[in-house]
Amino acid sequence: MQLTQIKTILIAGAGTMGQQTGLLCALNDYDVVIYDISDDILSKGMARIKKNADRMTGFNLCTPEAADTALSRISTTSDIKIAAKDADLVIESVPEDPELKGRLFHDINQCCKPDTIFTTNTSSLLPSMFADQTGRPEKLCALHFHDVAISKIVDVMPHAGTAKETVDIVTQFAEDLGQIPIVLTKENNGYVFNNMLMSFIGSALSLAANQVAPIEEIDRSWMGVMHTLVGPFGIMDGIGLDTSWKVTDYWAEKRNDPQAKANAAFLKTYVDKGNLGIKTKQGFYTYPDPAFGKPDFLTPPKSKQ
Ligand SMILES: NC(=O)c1ccc[n+]([C@@H]2O[C@H](COP(=O)([O-])OP(=O)(O)OC[C@H]3O[C@@H](n4cnc5c(N)ncnc54)[C@H](O)[C@@H]3O)[C@@H](O)[C@H]2O)c1
Repeated sequence: MQLTQIKTILIAGAGTMGQQTGLLCALNDYDVVIYDISDDILSKGMARIKKNADRMTGFNLCTPEAADTALSRISTTSDIKIAAKDADLVIESVPEDPELKGRLFHDINQCCKPDTIFTTNTSSLLPSMFADQTGRPEKLCALHFHDVAISKIVDVMPHAGTAKETVDIVTQFAEDLGQIPIVLTKENNGYVFNNMLMSFIGSALSLAANQVAPIEEIDRSWMGVMHTLVGPFGIMDGIGLDTSWKVTDYWAEKRNDPQAKANAAFLKTYVDKGNLGIKTKQGFYTYPDPAFGKPDFLTPPKSKQ
């Protein structure tokens, strides 16, 4: 299959990522069909896509004409047969459950063309967990987006049974969307960025959970040396402490790692109090004016005198 043969994209799941990737594909001249389990969910998803398009025109990221053209390229359906009929490439963005993803790919496989490419946007699962259920494992790989509004990095990750041709075409497709594909040579939990981020966050949590240093000192150390605007605890407040706890706890149990379990317990004390980070205005820091964002956070004490 050639990139020029990819014209119609099936977005499975009209949630956060389905909305973002659907609009991205439409803005890059692809016809987009968004599939979800109910028409009500689809119309709410479509309303949010329109809002996102308005925001983009507001920030001069695209012209109102380009946004209108893109929106006219997007259709929605809760009928899987209609959704899959003309699809050349599928971007699956349904909840993080290997059985659900496997079942969905199995159903799409019954209704789509023989050469349709399947991609999954999973954050923490591996394509091999449901490759067999797709009925076309050689045509499946991960195409993992980060927040499309702030990042152009995408991961392209094959499983052991993915054909090279599939990796090549998905990589070209990602480039055609204006993204920067990071092509992995084999499956890896957390791809590249998330894998590094998990180690970084785990290390910061160990320092705090073992009372080596307070949270602010750990962030100050990282920010002061690396000249970043935020440190690991500020980052976790952005991700959400509930999500950070869930991921930490999942891997702690799976790997039976005592330090990771202590890190998860440390995070849980915040979650139990409802302090989930930026979204609740209270996490490790208090928002909208967190200590690490104040001008004197990195001012040497002598200069403050
Ligand atoms: N949210 C993020 O920041 C982010 C980033 C990268 C990757 N991901 C991954 O993308 C996937 C989706 O995440 P999300 O945040 O968009 O989730 P979400 O909960 O916002 O949306 C999921 C959508 O899938 C729909 N759905 C459920 N079952 C379905 C089915 N059988 N068929 C069709 N649609 C179905 C739901 O109704 C919902 O609209 C997950 O695998 C997640 O790990 C999320």
